[in-house]
Amino acid sequence: KIIIVDFGSQYTQLIARCVRELNVYCEIIPCLQPFVPDSGVKGVILSGSPASVNDAAAPSWDIPMAAARVPVLGICYGAQLMARDFGGEVARSKIREYGRASLQHPDPEEPLFRGVSASSQVWMSHGDSITRLPDHFGVAAITNDIPVAAFKSTTAAAYPLYGLQFHPEVTHSTEGKKILENFLTAICGCSRNWTAAAFVAETVNHIREKAGDRKVIMALSGGVDSTVAATLIHKAVGPNLYCVFVDNGLLRKNEFDQVLDSYRHMGLNIRGVDASALFYEKLRDVSSPEEKRKIIGGLFIDVFQAEAEKIKDIAFLGQGTIYPDVIESVSVNGPSATIKSHHNVGGLPEKMHLQLIEPLRFLFKDEVRRIGREIGVDEAILERHPFPGPGLAIRILGAVSPEKIALLQEADDIYIRSLKDSGNYHQVWQAGTILLPVQSVGVMGDERTYEYTAALRAVTSHDGMTADWAHLPYDFLAKVSNDIINRVKGINRVVYDISSKPPATIEWE
Ligand code: XMP
Repeated sequence: KIIIVDFGSQYTQLIARCVRELNVYCEIIPCLQPFVPDSGVKGVILSGSPASVNDAAAPSWDIPMAAARVPVLGICYGAQLMARDFGGEVARSKIREYGRASLQHPDPEEPLFRGVSASSQVWMSHGDSITRLPDHFGVAAITNDIPVAAFKSTTAAAYPLYGLQFHPEVTHSTEGKKILENFLTAICGCSRNWTAAAFVAETVNHIREKAGDRKVIMALSGGVDSTVAATLIHKAVGPNLYCVFVDNGLLRKNEFDQVLDSYRHMGLNIRGVDASALFYEKLRDVSSPEEKRKIIGGLFIDVFQAEAEKIKDIAFLGQGTIYPDVIESVSVNGPSATIKSHHNVGGLPEKMHLQLIEPLRFLFKDEVRRIGREIGVDEAILERHPFPGPGLAIRILGAVSPEKIALLQEADDIYIRSLKDSGNYHQVWQAGTILLPVQSVGVMGDERTYEYTAALRAVTSHDGMTADWAHLPYDFLAKVSNDIINRVKGINRVVYDISSKPPATIEWE
């Protein structure tokens, strides 16, 4: 594997992604964590950083210690830190260099640039430049603007050291991936065998070693991450994995039974708990969105804990945390790594003295899907839209009641089924129906109606952080509107939400 040391760059995840796409396994560690020599580590990549190496509080890391054992590649800040730590000099550039540059590498034999064109577009983003290289270091590439765009040393440490002033991990560096591939294969000697199958085998072994014959409990939600994580843990510990699926009464139509059914088919040891009456009772007359979230989160923990207490001697809590949920933002100001775990069981591990098992902790969503496919998780679960933990409660504006939930479930079921039937479901990142507390006048037959309004929401997005409204065909929207108004008694008007995020959000609450 490759270790990526994070100095707080916004691109660190992209480096990890590139390395994995080259079928080499990697892990990101914050720069506050020292190098742990391990026979599996084949090389180290140092990330960029928003800091300057000359800042008093600049993040650092023991590069010579790593270079005594494996090859090291520094990127941007990582390269400057390496140059500085081995005795070179880094200074503020007169102009901040940002954007495209043309890389010229003088030595055609240099393994790092094997197969890379003589003049290759790279992406720069730095305020400091290397003004003097340390002894035993040489220039490996230049651009029109800077004399040290890449450098190397094969003699300053036991293993080769490379530095790149540009960012090979961004797509604007058109041959950046080739350069990373050369580092991984030609310099570190990694074999490109990190496949989904290899990950599954390794992870299952690892969980088996950790858990032994002790019990693991896990909350499932019907979503991709928790399902894939549970399937992996199940492969390792079999019936010692106890899964709990809570019906909070805020799921989509028939979802509880369908998901429970598919889990049983997958052979999971799962218990469905219908707690909807409890949730409805506590949510009665509550209309503040944050209050709803708090109540739902708190009740979930209570219900889950009560189930956990029925099973004796549990040692572990399984979670479907994935990499984007783990915000290990390495602060330049010190050890303040903040970790956000995405299931609503915060506090439980400490309270019940449970250790965590998080098999997907280092994976991105598309990698989780790849693993899911490898272990035969149902395609319908893998390709499912995200669905918020508080469920339909935050899609009913104002107070929630069982009647309103039933109304929204019907309308939403028509919308989501129509998206699937028309082939539009996979074109959008997330879709849902919102029940507005607005009643308006309509006419059906000869009757005057005075009923609720449903808003349809569909967005395109990569990660939910920003989103655009999906430009669904008018004919499709017309049909869904007709179907909802004709079939769902209580809704006589349908509107389509054409707001992007920002400034709106995806959910209405
Ligand atoms: P917003 O509305 O913030 O939503 O644009 C972004 C993504 O997060 C989901 N979401 C939640 N998920 N608990 C969750 O588990 C919540 O309280 C919550 N609020 C929003 C939302 O569905 C979208 O995918």
